[in-house]
Amino acid sequence: MNKAPQSVRGMNDILPEEARRWRVVEEAMSKVFDAYGYAEIRLPVVEHTGLFARAIGEATDIVEKEMYTFDDRNGDSLALRPEGTAGCVRAAMEHGLLHNQVQRLWYRGPMFRYERPQKGRYRQFNQVGAEAFGLAGPDVDAEIILLSARILAAAGAGGVELRINTLGTPAERARYRQRLQTYLESRRGDLDEDSVTRIERNPMRVLDSKHPRARAVVAEAPGIEADLDAESTAHFHRVGELLDAAGVRYVHDPRLVRGLDYYTRTVFEWTSDRLGAQDAVCSGGRYDGLVEALGGRPTPAIGWALGIERLVALADASTVSDDATPHAYFVAIGERAESHAIMTGERLRDRLPGLRLVVNCGGGGMKAQMKRADKCGARLALIVGDDEMDAGTVTVKSLREDAPQESVAVTGLMDALLARFGETLLT
Ligand code: HAM
Repeated sequence: MNKAPQSVRGMNDILPEEARRWRVVEEAMSKVFDAYGYAEIRLPVVEHTGLFARAIGEATDIVEKEMYTFDDRNGDSLALRPEGTAGCVRAAMEHGLLHNQVQRLWYRGPMFRYERPQKGRYRQFNQVGAEAFGLAGPDVDAEIILLSARILAAAGAGGVELRINTLGTPAERARYRQRLQTYLESRRGDLDEDSVTRIERNPMRVLDSKHPRARAVVAEAPGIEADLDAESTAHFHRVGELLDAAGVRYVHDPRLVRGLDYYTRTVFEWTSDRLGAQDAVCSGGRYDGLVEALGGRPTPAIGWALGIERLVALADASTVSDDATPHAYFVAIGERAESHAIMTGERLRDRLPGLRLVVNCGGGGMKAQMKRADKCGARLALIVGDDEMDAGTVTVKSLREDAPQESVAVTGLMDALLARFGETLLT
């Protein structure tokens, strides 16, 4: 026998029960985006490889070792997107959305990173992201963080903690980078091998190393505060004030850095200790230099993205439960009744858009069909056989309550369903 095909490692199927939870979470999120005036943008999954190298940074793990790239038939190097910000900026620039305009955008979809799969870390994963362009002040930093807080709450994600930090402007960061490098160099002997290789290429990444040796060194590392000018300090201070005023709790974590190079000033991350090692559910920050780095006019910007797999893992089952079980199952015995059930089903769906109705397919006797009706969770069985066909009726049998079955005229079926399930069937 041939071996059955298997999915690619780190790329998951989302089976129906799980997919329902995703849908509920996604619907809740899109409502919140509407409430804040963020408009959806749909972006391609594939971009030119160079876009990511330029946007995310050559010396990042994502670009150095995690991208899925391939040459297309023209010999162009393309990549499956590892994140959404670069493509969103590319699209906004390409379609002239950034000229003297403010844009508040959101997107969702699969992202791809060749990481070592483990719980909460996949090679194809899904993000929902938000990006705001054209606003430089700390007010929008607060807005976009409040938006993330409300999204997490709407999705029922409990037990999350917000950490924020500032990475300064590129000039400030360059000063800090040097100071940090000098410090790390002086502690070289105490560091793990990975961190040592980072001293030269990306010393700030040592700050969020999970290695115990690096952590001990990092605990005594200098912070960026001394390298910030008054404007950056005031900006960060104001973000904190606004979050305080809105009643959103946060921790200032001076060691918080990000794995992508485009960030400036405010960065933040929502984490949960219920997620294990991959504890970040939502992360982002300001990236004021990116549009210009990609050839556009200087445009301030800020955004975040959350991992839907991690969010759904956190979401409280009661918030994401959604009744998708059918109201009714149409049992049809014999060919005449079968066509009748299909047509009646269509008519009912025309008039009752909220009705969830499964019409039996694949024939079978009364016993087999009733078994299917019960298995799918339907509350009612609508039964038609030769007797009902001759009389112009449908037998309505309750599957969940102990109630006598009724004979209803076909013409009165819609009213009978409305009487039982209410006006929700109409919308
Ligand atoms: P990121 O921190 O690389 O940022 O990813 C954002 C979120 O995506 C993470 O907090 C996590 O929940 C989820 N995530 C990342 N990698 C994986 C993975 N391998 N498996 C499962 N979930 C994952 C960005 O992508 C930035 N584009 C965020 C941003 C938007 N910054 C500004 N605007």
